[in-house]
Amino acid sequence: MPDARGDGYVDDIPYTHGYHAAMNPRVMQWTLAQAGYRPPEVRSACELGFGQGVSLAIHGSVGAVAWQGTDFNLDHARNARALCEGCEPQPRIYAESFAEYFARSDLPAFDFIALHAVWSWVSPENRARIVEFIRQRLRPGGALYLSYNCLPGWQPMLALREQLVERAAAAQREGLPLAEAIRRAVVELERLEPEHDVILHSLKRRSVSYLAHEFFNRDWHPMEPEAVAAELAAAGVHRICSAQTQPSRSFRSEYWLRDATVLDASSLDASTQPCELARFETLDWAGESAQRLVLQEGWGHPGAGAIDGTAAIRNAQRINGQLLTLAERCAEPSVLACPATGGGIELGWVTLLLCSARRHGLTGPEAWADYAQQRLEALGQRPIEQGVVLQGGPMVRRFLRDAAARFAEQTLPRLQELRVLD
Ligand SMILES: C[S@@+](CC[C@H](N)C(=O)[O-])C[C@H]1O[C@@H](n2cnc3c(N)ncnc32)[C@H](O)[C@@H]1O
Repeated sequence: MPDARGDGYVDDIPYTHGYHAAMNPRVMQWTLAQAGYRPPEVRSACELGFGQGVSLAIHGSVGAVAWQGTDFNLDHARNARALCEGCEPQPRIYAESFAEYFARSDLPAFDFIALHAVWSWVSPENRARIVEFIRQRLRPGGALYLSYNCLPGWQPMLALREQLVERAAAAQREGLPLAEAIRRAVVELERLEPEHDVILHSLKRRSVSYLAHEFFNRDWHPMEPEAVAAELAAAGVHRICSAQTQPSRSFRSEYWLRDATVLDASSLDASTQPCELARFETLDWAGESAQRLVLQEGWGHPGAGAIDGTAAIRNAQRINGQLLTLAERCAEPSVLACPATGGGIELGWVTLLLCSARRHGLTGPEAWADYAQQRLEALGQRPIEQGVVLQGGPMVRRFLRDAAARFAEQTLPRLQELRVLD
């Protein structure tokens, strides 16, 4: 594997453009209060290993918190900076390794430290550094967001991963570039390990950038949740609750607190008021689950409603312009920044293409669907409907027309009302 820094981390295939709502401080505060604990007020926050930086750019430019973060992949840091270019305020983005960043003398104390999909992919030495950083830099009462691969869910993959890595390395020795070597290794393994066909078939459908970063770093350490708690005990933090609505056996995301305080009955009442979803005068919420909308799709959070501040609107629309441009050349971005929540709204890539068509001055669902179809074809993508990949032009066309009609009637008015788009 390419390893310019000697840390065993894949750095020639960029990571995917994911957004993680659980790192929005308002979602963290709401979730902790729902669990009966006093959440910290958040003025300063830090994201470690931010990847393409979609979460960091949105939270640091559209929310009211001073964010900073580091990721040692130079492309990642460059892309994250580009996403929030021109925003004021914007997060401080460093391209430093954890060891370099933790040694800085200008770091503040943080109210919130967040790391998504990092813990299981770094060495034990780097985990120890992270623990020490949390011990030194997380304020009393502060919160930690941590996600990791866990056991027993990943148990069958431990041996398979070794084979994958060996096969890809052999293919690279024959001269194949890493991306092709990974694809070939997955296909070979599916043939050789029929008893694991379900896992391997699901891997075949994932992007190479996901596969590279998930399995091809030197370090890949799924852990028992108890083992994670044992390491983090030295940082003085305690696991409070899941950040996922449905924790799985292979992946967990959690909130932890330093000096946790249980809310008394009166504060509990105040903090757990039914959440106010982002205000939609025109919307009938009947039948929709508030928790799903708040936590997973980002349409609202407690206290959302008043869109305060032109800076948040201006910054959100600036970032959204960048995300729409990105969506035209890469089938990954799926959120737009929302000034009412300081977070991202999960819309899906196809919806971003429809927004993009409109931004180019095309009018009406027909023209938006045509534009989306051109982009899909140019990028060799096929839409997925209810788990089925749509084959053939007419099916894709029907799907996009339906999507564009729904977008025009429902989604676009909501996005305009929330000042996500003008
Ligand atoms: C699996 S990716 C997750 C990215 C992002 N948090 C997300 O979920 O979209 C892990 C990230 O951590 C960064 N990383 C790994 N080890 C690091 C280190 N020692 N110092 C700084 N960044 C590191 C990688 O460059 C990569 O972007």
